[in-house]
Amino acid sequence: MESVATAPGKTILFGEHSVVYDEPAIAGAVNKRAKIKISSAKNNYTTFKSYDLAFEAILDTRNSSYKLVRGKPGIIRYVLNALSKFHDHSPIDIELSLNLPIGSGLGSSAAVTVATIAALFDYHGTPFDKEYLANCAHGVELDVQGIASPLDTLVSTYGGLVYLSREKKIVHFDNHLEVPFVIGFTTKYSNTGKMVRNVRSLKERYPELIEPIIETMGKIANEGRVAILKNDVDKLANLMNFNQGLLDSLGVNTQELSRMVYIARKNGATGSKITGSGGGGSMIALCPNNPDKVANAINRFDNTIKVNFSKEGILLNGEETFYPRL
Ligand code: PMV
Repeated sequence: MESVATAPGKTILFGEHSVVYDEPAIAGAVNKRAKIKISSAKNNYTTFKSYDLAFEAILDTRNSSYKLVRGKPGIIRYVLNALSKFHDHSPIDIELSLNLPIGSGLGSSAAVTVATIAALFDYHGTPFDKEYLANCAHGVELDVQGIASPLDTLVSTYGGLVYLSREKKIVHFDNHLEVPFVIGFTTKYSNTGKMVRNVRSLKERYPELIEPIIETMGKIANEGRVAILKNDVDKLANLMNFNQGLLDSLGVNTQELSRMVYIARKNGATGSKITGSGGGGSMIALCPNNPDKVANAINRFDNTIKVNFSKEGILLNGEETFYPRL
Protein backbone atom coordinates (compact mmCIF):
# COMPACT_ATOMS: atom_id res chain seq x y z
CA MET A 1 0.00 0.00 0.00
CA GLU A 2 1.41 3.39 -1.03
CA SER A 3 -0.08 6.92 -1.02
CA VAL A 4 1.55 9.95 -2.61
CA ALA A 5 0.38 13.53 -2.17
CA THR A 6 1.99 16.76 -3.34
CA ALA A 7 1.12 20.34 -2.31
CA PRO A 8 2.53 23.69 -3.42
CA GLY A 9 4.35 26.42 -1.53
CA LYS A 10 3.05 29.95 -1.77
CA THR A 11 4.07 33.54 -1.88
CA ILE A 12 2.09 36.35 -0.25
CA LEU A 13 1.60 39.47 -2.37
CA PHE A 14 -0.37 41.47 0.19
CA GLY A 15 -1.63 40.94 3.71
CA GLU A 16 1.05 39.14 5.75
CA HIS A 17 0.53 39.99 9.43
CA SER A 18 -2.64 42.04 8.78
CA VAL A 19 -4.40 38.78 7.76
CA VAL A 20 -3.93 37.59 11.36
CA TYR A 21 -6.30 40.44 12.36
CA ASP A 22 -8.87 39.43 9.73
CA GLU A 23 -7.79 41.89 7.06
CA PRO A 24 -7.94 40.59 3.48
CA ALA A 25 -4.88 39.12 1.78
CA ILE A 26 -3.66 38.03 -1.65
CA ALA A 27 -1.37 35.04 -2.13
CA GLY A 28 -0.48 32.63 -4.89
CA ALA A 29 0.56 28.99 -5.01
CA VAL A 30 3.96 28.53 -6.67
CA ASN A 31 5.36 25.82 -8.90
CA LYS A 32 7.57 24.41 -6.10
CA ARG A 33 6.07 21.63 -4.09
CA ALA A 34 6.31 19.25 -1.15
CA LYS A 35 5.77 15.58 -1.93
CA ILE A 36 4.90 13.04 0.76
CA LYS A 37 4.98 9.31 0.10
CA ILE A 38 3.53 7.01 2.73
CA SER A 39 4.03 3.25 2.51
CA SER A 40 3.63 0.30 4.85
CA ALA A 41 6.73 0.12 7.05
CA LYS A 42 9.64 -2.10 6.09
CA ASN A 43 10.38 -2.57 9.81
CA ASN A 44 8.05 -2.58 12.79
CA TYR A 45 8.48 1.14 13.52
CA THR A 46 7.62 4.42 11.75
CA THR A 47 10.30 6.32 9.85
CA PHE A 48 10.38 9.81 8.34
CA LYS A 49 13.12 10.71 5.90
CA SER A 50 13.98 13.28 3.28
CA TYR A 51 16.92 13.07 0.90
CA ASP A 52 16.38 16.73 -0.06
CA LEU A 53 16.76 17.84 3.55
CA ALA A 54 19.45 15.23 4.34
CA PHE A 55 17.25 14.12 7.18
CA GLU A 56 16.10 10.85 8.76
CA ALA A 57 14.24 10.06 11.99
CA ILE A 58 12.43 7.23 13.75
CA LEU A 59 9.06 8.42 15.03
CA ASP A 60 7.18 7.43 18.14
CA THR A 61 3.67 8.42 17.05
CA ARG A 62 2.06 7.49 20.40
CA ASN A 63 4.21 9.96 22.32
CA SER A 64 4.70 12.43 19.45
CA SER A 65 8.45 12.13 19.88
CA TYR A 66 11.32 11.13 17.60
CA LYS A 67 14.86 9.86 17.49
CA LEU A 68 17.00 11.70 14.97
CA VAL A 69 19.14 9.45 12.77
CA ARG A 70 20.66 12.35 10.82
CA GLY A 71 19.96 15.98 9.90
CA LYS A 72 17.96 18.71 11.67
CA PRO A 73 14.41 18.18 12.94
CA GLY A 74 12.94 21.33 11.25
CA ILE A 75 9.63 20.34 9.76
CA ILE A 76 9.10 17.22 11.92
CA ARG A 77 6.69 18.81 14.45
CA TYR A 78 4.09 19.35 11.71
CA VAL A 79 4.33 15.72 10.60
CA LEU A 80 4.13 14.39 14.17
CA ASN A 81 1.10 16.54 14.91
CA ALA A 82 -0.65 15.38 11.73
CA LEU A 83 0.13 11.75 12.65
CA SER A 84 -1.23 12.19 16.17
CA LYS A 85 -4.55 13.36 14.70
CA PHE A 86 -4.98 11.38 11.49
CA HIS A 87 -3.06 8.13 11.92
CA ASP A 88 -3.69 4.95 13.93
CA HIS A 89 -0.06 4.40 15.07
CA SER A 90 0.54 1.44 12.75
CA PRO A 91 4.17 1.55 11.49
CA ILE A 92 4.63 3.41 8.19
CA ASP A 93 7.51 4.84 6.18
CA ILE A 94 7.13 8.52 5.28
CA GLU A 95 9.31 10.10 2.62
CA LEU A 96 9.42 13.85 1.95
CA SER A 97 10.73 15.50 -1.23
CA LEU A 98 10.84 19.29 -1.14
CA ASN A 99 12.04 21.73 -3.76
CA LEU A 100 11.27 24.78 -1.61
CA PRO A 101 13.78 26.28 0.82
CA ILE A 102 12.46 25.68 4.38
CA GLY A 103 11.86 28.58 6.77
CA SER A 104 11.98 30.95 3.83
CA GLY A 105 8.45 32.32 4.05
CA LEU A 106 7.46 30.31 0.98
CA GLY A 107 5.02 28.13 2.87
CA SER A 108 7.08 24.95 3.18
CA SER A 109 5.46 24.00 6.50
CA ALA A 110 1.93 24.39 5.09
CA ALA A 111 2.87 22.44 1.94
CA VAL A 112 4.32 19.58 4.02
CA THR A 113 1.33 19.61 6.38
CA VAL A 114 -1.28 19.60 3.60
CA ALA A 115 0.54 16.85 1.67
CA THR A 116 1.02 14.72 4.83
CA ILE A 117 -2.64 14.88 5.84
CA ALA A 118 -3.87 14.16 2.29
CA ALA A 119 -1.51 11.17 1.99
CA LEU A 120 -2.69 9.88 5.39
CA PHE A 121 -6.35 10.25 4.37
CA ASP A 122 -5.64 8.34 1.18
CA TYR A 123 -3.66 5.67 3.01
CA HIS A 124 -6.57 5.07 5.41
CA GLY A 125 -9.30 5.50 2.78
CA THR A 126 -10.68 8.46 4.74
CA PRO A 127 -13.18 10.51 2.71
CA PHE A 128 -12.32 14.22 2.44
CA ASP A 129 -12.68 17.32 0.32
CA LYS A 130 -10.49 20.41 -0.04
CA GLU A 131 -12.37 22.45 2.54
CA TYR A 132 -11.94 19.72 5.16
CA LEU A 133 -8.29 19.18 4.25
CA ALA A 134 -7.49 22.91 4.50
CA ASN A 135 -9.23 23.07 7.90
CA CYS A 136 -7.33 20.07 9.24
CA ALA A 137 -4.02 21.51 8.00
CA HIS A 138 -4.78 24.88 9.59
CA GLY A 139 -5.45 23.04 12.87
CA VAL A 140 -2.00 21.45 12.70
CA GLU A 141 -0.36 24.84 12.02
CA LEU A 142 -2.22 26.35 14.97
CA ASP A 143 -1.10 23.53 17.29
CA VAL A 144 2.53 23.76 16.21
CA GLN A 145 2.91 27.54 15.82
CA GLY A 146 0.44 28.70 18.46
CA ILE A 147 -0.88 31.35 16.09
CA ALA A 148 -1.51 31.16 12.33
CA SER A 149 -4.01 32.50 9.81
CA PRO A 150 -5.54 29.94 7.41
CA LEU A 151 -3.88 31.66 4.42
CA ASP A 152 -0.93 29.33 3.83
CA THR A 153 -2.88 26.10 4.21
CA LEU A 154 -5.75 27.38 2.04
CA VAL A 155 -3.44 28.39 -0.79
CA SER A 156 -1.48 25.16 -0.54
CA THR A 157 -4.70 23.14 -0.71
CA TYR A 158 -6.54 25.03 -3.46
CA GLY A 159 -3.62 26.36 -5.53
CA GLY A 160 -3.89 29.38 -7.84
CA LEU A 161 -3.76 33.09 -7.10
CA VAL A 162 -6.34 33.85 -4.42
CA TYR A 163 -7.90 36.72 -2.54
CA LEU A 164 -8.81 35.88 1.05
CA SER A 165 -11.66 38.08 2.28
CA ARG A 166 -12.22 39.34 5.82
CA GLU A 167 -14.74 36.51 6.20
CA LYS A 168 -12.02 33.99 5.26
CA LYS A 169 -13.66 33.15 1.96
CA ILE A 170 -11.26 32.51 -0.87
CA VAL A 171 -11.88 33.98 -4.29
CA HIS A 172 -9.78 32.72 -7.20
CA PHE A 173 -8.59 35.25 -9.76
CA ASP A 174 -9.58 34.16 -13.24
CA ASN A 175 -6.75 36.06 -14.83
CA HIS A 176 -3.23 34.95 -14.11
CA LEU A 177 -0.54 37.53 -13.41
CA GLU A 178 1.78 37.15 -16.39
CA VAL A 179 4.33 39.68 -15.17
CA PRO A 180 7.60 38.17 -13.86
CA PHE A 181 8.48 38.16 -10.17
CA VAL A 182 11.79 37.38 -8.53
CA ILE A 183 11.93 35.90 -5.03
CA GLY A 184 14.99 36.64 -2.92
CA PHE A 185 15.67 34.73 0.27
CA THR A 186 18.07 35.16 3.16
CA THR A 187 19.84 32.30 4.85
CA LYS A 188 18.18 33.31 8.14
CA TYR A 189 15.07 31.24 8.85
CA SER A 190 12.00 33.25 9.57
CA ASN A 191 10.17 32.20 12.72
CA THR A 192 6.53 32.90 11.88
CA GLY A 193 5.22 32.37 15.42
CA LYS A 194 7.80 34.74 16.90
CA MET A 195 7.20 37.47 14.31
CA VAL A 196 3.42 37.26 14.74
CA ARG A 197 3.82 37.51 18.54
CA ASN A 198 6.12 40.54 18.16
CA VAL A 199 3.55 42.34 16.01
CA ARG A 200 0.77 41.43 18.45
CA SER A 201 2.72 42.87 21.36
CA LEU A 202 3.39 46.10 19.41
CA LYS A 203 -0.33 46.32 18.67
CA GLU A 204 -1.15 45.86 22.35
CA ARG A 205 1.31 48.55 23.40
CA TYR A 206 0.40 51.10 20.74
CA PRO A 207 -3.13 50.23 19.57
CA GLU A 208 -3.94 53.71 18.25
CA LEU A 209 -0.88 53.71 16.03
CA ILE A 210 -0.63 50.08 14.98
CA GLU A 211 -4.31 49.37 14.29
CA PRO A 212 -4.53 52.00 11.51
CA ILE A 213 -1.36 50.54 9.96
CA ILE A 214 -2.94 47.09 9.90
CA GLU A 215 -6.17 48.51 8.47
CA THR A 216 -4.21 50.29 5.75
CA MET A 217 -2.56 46.99 4.85
CA GLY A 218 -6.05 45.57 4.39
CA LYS A 219 -6.96 48.50 2.13
CA ILE A 220 -3.80 47.87 0.13
CA ALA A 221 -4.84 44.23 -0.36
CA ASN A 222 -8.24 45.39 -1.59
CA GLU A 223 -6.65 47.86 -3.99
CA GLY A 224 -4.27 45.09 -5.03
CA ARG A 225 -7.23 42.95 -5.96
CA VAL A 226 -8.53 45.69 -8.26
CA ALA A 227 -5.06 46.18 -9.76
CA ILE A 228 -4.76 42.45 -10.51
CA LEU A 229 -8.23 42.30 -12.05
CA LYS A 230 -7.33 45.26 -14.30
CA ASN A 231 -3.81 43.97 -14.90
CA ASP A 232 -2.58 47.37 -13.70
CA VAL A 233 1.08 46.49 -13.11
CA ASP A 234 2.14 50.07 -12.23
CA LYS A 235 -0.41 50.28 -9.46
CA LEU A 236 0.51 46.82 -8.22
CA ALA A 237 4.12 47.96 -7.92
CA ASN A 238 3.18 51.09 -5.95
CA LEU A 239 1.01 49.06 -3.62
CA MET A 240 3.86 46.63 -2.95
CA ASN A 241 6.16 49.53 -2.08
CA PHE A 242 3.57 51.09 0.28
CA ASN A 243 3.09 47.72 1.92
CA GLN A 244 6.84 47.30 2.42
CA GLY A 245 7.00 50.61 4.30
CA LEU A 246 4.20 49.49 6.59
CA LEU A 247 5.77 46.06 7.21
CA ASP A 248 8.99 47.87 8.12
CA SER A 249 7.09 50.00 10.62
CA LEU A 250 5.85 46.78 12.29
CA GLY A 251 9.45 45.73 12.94
CA VAL A 252 9.52 42.65 10.71
CA ASN A 253 12.17 43.96 8.32
CA THR A 254 15.85 43.02 8.58
CA GLN A 255 19.00 44.46 7.09
CA GLU A 256 19.25 41.58 4.59
CA LEU A 257 15.64 41.88 3.49
CA SER A 258 16.05 45.65 3.11
CA ARG A 259 19.21 45.13 1.09
CA MET A 260 17.36 42.87 -1.33
CA VAL A 261 14.34 45.18 -1.51
CA TYR A 262 16.48 48.19 -2.44
CA ILE A 263 18.87 46.31 -4.72
CA ALA A 264 15.82 45.03 -6.60
CA ARG A 265 14.40 48.54 -7.02
CA LYS A 266 17.79 49.94 -8.05
CA ASN A 267 18.00 47.30 -10.78
CA GLY A 268 14.62 47.92 -12.29
CA ALA A 269 12.05 46.19 -10.07
CA THR A 270 9.04 48.49 -9.96
CA GLY A 271 7.77 47.05 -6.67
CA SER A 272 9.46 45.02 -3.94
CA LYS A 273 8.52 43.90 -0.47
CA ILE A 274 8.92 41.26 2.19
CA THR A 275 6.80 38.18 1.52
CA GLY A 276 5.78 36.09 4.52
CA SER A 277 6.41 36.88 8.15
CA GLY A 278 9.80 38.63 7.79
CA GLY A 279 12.60 38.62 10.37
CA GLY A 280 14.53 36.60 7.77
CA GLY A 281 12.89 34.58 5.04
CA SER A 282 12.02 36.12 1.69
CA MET A 283 11.17 39.17 -0.36
CA ILE A 284 9.36 39.44 -3.67
CA ALA A 285 10.14 41.85 -6.50
CA LEU A 286 7.88 42.75 -9.40
CA CYS A 287 10.12 42.93 -12.46
CA PRO A 288 8.11 43.75 -15.60
CA ASN A 289 11.21 44.39 -17.75
CA ASN A 290 14.35 42.79 -16.44
CA PRO A 291 13.90 39.89 -14.00
CA ASP A 292 17.36 38.45 -14.80
CA LYS A 293 19.11 41.73 -14.06
CA VAL A 294 17.28 41.98 -10.72
CA ALA A 295 18.02 38.34 -9.84
CA ASN A 296 21.72 38.69 -10.72
CA ALA A 297 22.03 41.85 -8.63
CA ILE A 298 20.38 40.21 -5.60
CA ASN A 299 22.51 37.08 -6.06
CA ARG A 300 25.69 39.11 -5.41
CA PHE A 301 24.89 39.12 -1.67
CA ASP A 302 21.87 36.86 -1.23
CA ASN A 303 19.96 34.13 -3.09
CA THR A 304 17.07 34.08 -5.48
CA ILE A 305 14.69 31.41 -6.60
CA LYS A 306 12.69 31.46 -9.82
CA VAL A 307 9.05 30.68 -9.21
CA ASN A 308 5.88 31.03 -11.20
CA PHE A 309 2.39 31.20 -9.87
CA SER A 310 0.72 27.84 -10.30
CA LYS A 311 -2.91 26.83 -10.56
CA GLU A 312 -2.27 23.41 -9.05
CA GLY A 313 -3.17 22.79 -5.42
CA ILE A 314 -3.15 19.43 -3.66
CA LEU A 315 -2.63 16.43 -5.91
CA LEU A 316 -3.23 12.89 -4.74
CA ASN A 317 -1.35 10.16 -6.56
CA GLY A 318 -0.79 12.78 -9.29
CA GLU A 319 -4.46 13.65 -9.72
CA GLU A 320 -6.98 16.15 -8.47
CA THR A 321 -9.66 13.62 -7.58
CA PHE A 322 -10.92 13.21 -4.07
CA TYR A 323 -13.22 11.05 -2.08
CA PRO A 324 -16.38 12.98 -1.33
CA ARG A 325 -16.58 14.00 2.31
CA LEU A 326 -19.26 12.10 4.21
O1 PMV B 1 6.26 33.35 6.78
P1 PMV B 1 5.08 32.56 6.34
O2 PMV B 1 5.16 32.08 4.97
O3 PMV B 1 4.78 31.47 7.33
O4 PMV B 1 3.82 33.56 6.31
C1 PMV B 1 3.25 34.02 7.48
C2 PMV B 1 2.14 34.98 7.22
C3 PMV B 1 1.66 35.67 8.47
O5 PMV B 1 0.59 36.52 8.10
C4 PMV B 1 2.75 36.54 9.09
C5 PMV B 1 1.18 34.71 9.53
C6 PMV B 1 -0.08 33.97 9.15
O6 PMV B 1 -0.35 32.96 9.82
O7 PMV B 1 -0.82 34.39 8.25
